[in-house]
Amino acid sequence: MKKLTLGLILLLSFSAVATAQGDAAAGEAKAAVCGACHGVDGNSMISSFPKLAGQNVRYLVKQMQDIKNGDRAAPTMTGLLANSSDQDMQDIAAYFSSQTVKLGTAKAELVALGEQLYRSGSKRKGVSACSACHSPTGSGNAPAGYPSLKGQHAAYTAAQLKAFRASERHNDADKIMRDNAELLSDKDIEALASYISGLR
Ligand code: HEC
Ligand code: HEC
Repeated sequence: MKKLTLGLILLLSFSAVATAQGDAAAGEAKAAVCGACHGVDGNSMISSFPKLAGQNVRYLVKQMQDIKNGDRAAPTMTGLLANSSDQDMQDIAAYFSSQTVKLGTAKAELVALGEQLYRSGSKRKGVSACSACHSPTGSGNAPAGYPSLKGQHAAYTAAQLKAFRASERHNDADKIMRDNAELLSDKDIEALASYISGLR
């Protein structure tokens, strides 16, 4: 609990820094190069490239900063953000955030396990309910910068959960995701990723 309170205080103090307002129209032009992989409207066609459509601004800007300064490894994007200013990132984030994510369809046989873990976590394993932070509809928590997950490609979501589990992705403050992911089996991850792709 103490850890969580400290995390909240840190989040609140960071939010004072990130006050610049993004301009979605300016962002659309700046995002042209991104569309090749993420889709012009943020709905990427390839399942290893994340959809950015409808994602909250705060999360998008944080990921761009983390990728730019190397806190998050994204070899495919090397150099792409090197010349992007904070204002560029705010604008690009405002653009993708204003788009609508296209939802997928969960595999029927994985829904029961995926839904159970997403909504209730696992007492036995000590996994928190994902819905507590990512919301029951998977829309995330924009003021806190907790990402929206709904409609995301299952392959991308599964890869991220495995990366958190292995601590290969470690840009989550207070290990908020690593602590949960390390308790998930491959089967749990497959079910969660499938369920999330169709979440609404
Ligand atoms: C050559 C393909 C490619 C291009 C071009 C590209 N990206 Fe990416 N991007 C990726 C991949 C792949 C990932 C996922 C990396 C990983 O596996 O963690 C990613 C991840 C991201 C994320 C994190 C998404 C999330 O849900 O956490 C953001 C934000 C992002 N890219 C923004 C951009 C922006 C802005 C541009 C344009 C300046 C851009 N990308 C251009 C391939 C690309
Ligand atoms: C206590 C809050 C919290 C809980 C509980 C939580 N998450 Fe997260 N999750 C976060 C935060 C914060 C991030 C973003 C970390 C960062 O800054 O990169 C995140 C990131 C993610 C990402 C990466 C999204 C992307 O676009 O790359 C996935 C996938 C994810 N969470 C899935 C889950 C699943 C599945 C569960 C349940 C097993 C879960 N989360 C439980 C807070 C939480």
